Amino acid sequence: MADQKSSSPDWRMGGITVPEVEDYIYAMLPPRDEVLTISGAKRVFEMGSAIGYSTIWWARAVGDGGRVIYTDGDPKRAEKARRYFERAGVSQRIVVRVGDALEFLSEEKDTYDIIFNDVDKTDYPRVFRLALPRLKSGGLFVTDNVLWSGKLRKPNPDAETKAILEFNKLICESKDLFTTILPLRDGVAVCVKK
Ligand SMILES: C[S@@+](CC[C@H](N)C(=O)[O-])C[C@H]1O[C@@H](n2cnc3c(N)ncnc32)[C@H](O)[C@@H]1O
Repeated sequence: MADQKSSSPDWRMGGITVPEVEDYIYAMLPPRDEVLTISGAKRVFEMGSAIGYSTIWWARAVGDGGRVIYTDGDPKRAEKARRYFERAGVSQRIVVRVGDALEFLSEEKDTYDIIFNDVDKTDYPRVFRLALPRLKSGGLFVTDNVLWSGKLRKPNPDAETKAILEFNKLICESKDLFTTILPLRDGVAVCVKK
């Protein structure tokens, strides 16, 4: 979920979605705060938050009384994120945790309405195993980059590509999830826990 319309003309993930179709989809979308708010989610655990762009969207979506757990292994990014949260007026809704997101999730006792996965791709299969028990029934498990710039269909996949291939198989074959892979930009998987 990186910035979708930066000043660069190359903001689209070329080759996955036809540009004209992507323009059409964006033109049809209502303001995204509204789209996110309708899920009714109040508790979000975000894995791989960087400077907090996606965190701010989640924080706006959960509304007053909602809680978003920010996680990132890079303290400098976390520091920047804190400043953006202040400027966006959403700091009260965000808990910043610096370190390994998988370790934090494995220590959790609570369940979440949404778990958003955007960490290093080689960890995706492990995230799948950790996330499921921490998601409430009816909750969403959302994962970015599942189409990986189309590298999934190229010969000799590297370690990251292999991990995403394994992850996609896991979410599609899981009896505990209803899975949809949206061919939006680099591919977003949205899984609903049964
Ligand atoms: C693609 S960026 C996240 C972008 C962000 N979700 C957004 O859409 O605005 C990936 C981030 O995940 C962090 N990261 C990767 N693996 C991690 C892990 N195991 N634990 C914590 N952070 C991790 C990296 O430091 C990096 O900042």
